[in-house]
Amino acid sequence: MARVEMKDVSCSYDGGMTYALRNVDMTMEQEGRYSLLGPSGCGKTTLLKIIAGLLEYTGDVYFDGQNMREVPIEDRSIAMVFQSPVVYPMSVYENLLFPIRREKLASQERERRVREISSILELDPILDAPAHKLGPADRQTVALGRALIKEAKIILLDEPLTSIEAEKRLVLRTKIKRIQEEQHKVFIYVTHDQSEALTLSDRIAVMNEGRILQFDTKEHIYEHPAYLFVGYFMGSPGMNMLEGKAKKGMMDFVDFTLPVPPDYEEYIGRHEEFEMGIRPENFTVSTRKKRDFIPFYCMDIQEKGEGLRILYLTSKEKRNELKAVGTFPDIKSGSEVWVLFPAGKIRIYDKESGKTVL
Ligand SMILES: Nc1ncnc2c1ncn2[C@@H]1O[C@H](COP(=O)(O)OP(=O)(O)OP(=O)(O)O)[C@@H](O)[C@H]1O
Ligand SMILES: [Mg+2]
Repeated sequence: MARVEMKDVSCSYDGGMTYALRNVDMTMEQEGRYSLLGPSGCGKTTLLKIIAGLLEYTGDVYFDGQNMREVPIEDRSIAMVFQSPVVYPMSVYENLLFPIRREKLASQERERRVREISSILELDPILDAPAHKLGPADRQTVALGRALIKEAKIILLDEPLTSIEAEKRLVLRTKIKRIQEEQHKVFIYVTHDQSEALTLSDRIAVMNEGRILQFDTKEHIYEHPAYLFVGYFMGSPGMNMLEGKAKKGMMDFVDFTLPVPPDYEEYIGRHEEFEMGIRPENFTVSTRKKRDFIPFYCMDIQEKGEGLRILYLTSKEKRNELKAVGTFPDIKSGSEVWVLFPAGKIRIYDKESGKTVL
């Protein structure tokens, strides 16, 4: 078991003028795959380095209930993989052996560990090759092996696949996933690529400007983004955002109105202005006028792949734009369409903070 807990963790590189991390509270309860996801500069690497013990911070970090403040990096049971692979100018075999060369192990046991990691990562065919002369994907696989062989409880991976070509990236993703499943460790994976976070992790922390906006399962983040930013950042395309006003018991969007969904009646009764979010996948779009459907104009259609299309829609007086995703076999660009907003999929956010109101 390895529980990683952060309590009110903040970090500034300039003596408190600006903060790279702000008041992070986050608990990874048990072994599993976790991602830190967010745009460049949001604090992902900073958070990883604090867990590793490489940076000063305020607040507290606990591993299995033990405060890590005075615990040096070598006693933390962590291993780290960086964006650019660190390998030594020696064979792949020797590279894998290097991190455990000083451990008090029988030489057969050391050899067994190297063979085990090599087999999981499919490095057997290149065990004798000079590691520094390999291509980037193989070098990163070796770096991964070097991190895993130490049997640390917590593996920190900082965008390890960014510099690797797309096809090999998929293979390495699968290997990383398999290793975690076999070794039952805590994997904390940093990425700014949502598809990587989605395929690799069970729970995702979405970060922006030094804060963790939401730490949850991918399903919950998709269905119930805690912030507009999260809804927009996760999804392709992201969540639609519309500015609304409460008017005569309805939600008013200037050139159309919608009934207030029951969950939000109380909030909208008390707030005149709000933001509405709805996923592009959640609309029903018809070529014919129907009850409760709102008229839109289809400006453009893009193929999204796998039979799906993205419709670019604008409302009657062009006051609102939407994207809708679906198969939409009958919809033509340049035509009038009718759009249903399912009440159960509408999410309302505070206009100032962008935070969910539920
Ligand atoms: N050594 C440093 N000195 C000063 N400021 C730093 C330092 N490292 C990071 N920062 C700043 O702290 C903030 C967070 O940086 P961090 O590297 O943690 O972001 P990141 O999410 O890992 O970004 P990226 O996706 O680009 O790697 C940024 O504003 C960055 O400019
Ligand atoms: Mg970084």
